[in-house]
Amino acid sequence: MLKSDLPHRWPAALDEAIAQTHGRFTQCIVLSETDSTQDAARRMRLTPGTIVTALRQVRGRGRLGRAWTDTAGHGIALTCCLPRTLAELATLAAPVAIARTLADFTNYAVGIKWPNDVLIQGRKIAGVLIECTDDRADLGIGINISQTDWPPELADRAISLHQLGATTATRLAVLTRLLPFLADCFKCFPHAIAAEFAARDVLTGTIATFLNHGETVTGRVESIDPARGLAVKTATGRRWLPALTTTVVPPSSAAGG
Ligand code: BTN
Repeated sequence: MLKSDLPHRWPAALDEAIAQTHGRFTQCIVLSETDSTQDAARRMRLTPGTIVTALRQVRGRGRLGRAWTDTAGHGIALTCCLPRTLAELATLAAPVAIARTLADFTNYAVGIKWPNDVLIQGRKIAGVLIECTDDRADLGIGINISQTDWPPELADRAISLHQLGATTATRLAVLTRLLPFLADCFKCFPHAIAAEFAARDVLTGTIATFLNHGETVTGRVESIDPARGLAVKTATGRRWLPALTTTVVPPSSAAGG
């Protein structure tokens, strides 16, 4: 482990980062190990404004109940508790804040694949999961920092900052950059964040298939709106797909393969 990532440095460094979030976040709890920071946040009944991160997350999850690989000291896992009213904005703000952060550590272009993937060189480097209850939204973020050995099924789909040559990037350095960016993105005008998202989005302008509440929608991706979601031009007109309830159907599945 790089010296600047040593666990005892995390609490003070994160307190300093929290102080740069202008009140959006008030506390960051550091766990040595947890199953999923999403579940930890619920168990601890964290209130909006609080963040929980773990030096190791062993049973993280992604969207659609997919597993998120054990961070095993190599990846960042955090959950930010937000008021429910920020859930829709979080779908745009979180990927944009992650992209801004990663751009500080690598010269490779950082892309976003609506709704929740952050990509570099076509591979996933970070993911976002937003789980809502009536009064809160748990924004989960996973970022790959120093992984080099991936399980076979992820070997050609995932990538870490170290694999891109940013071998001095530490989890703590990335995390402390991320928190102020995240707070900034929540303060921006939603249309400005949507425009920044769209500028990085790899789906805009392409033809893609989506699943929303059991319905399949295929069309050309036109734009992103902070309130309505993704605008898709279909054979029967424009459809709006909300980020919280829509998934992208991979091209092979869309083609029936
Ligand atoms: C996805 O790509 O489908 C979303 C991945 C989200 C992973 C993060 S890691 C921190 C938080 N805790 C979890 O169990 N999941 C999210």
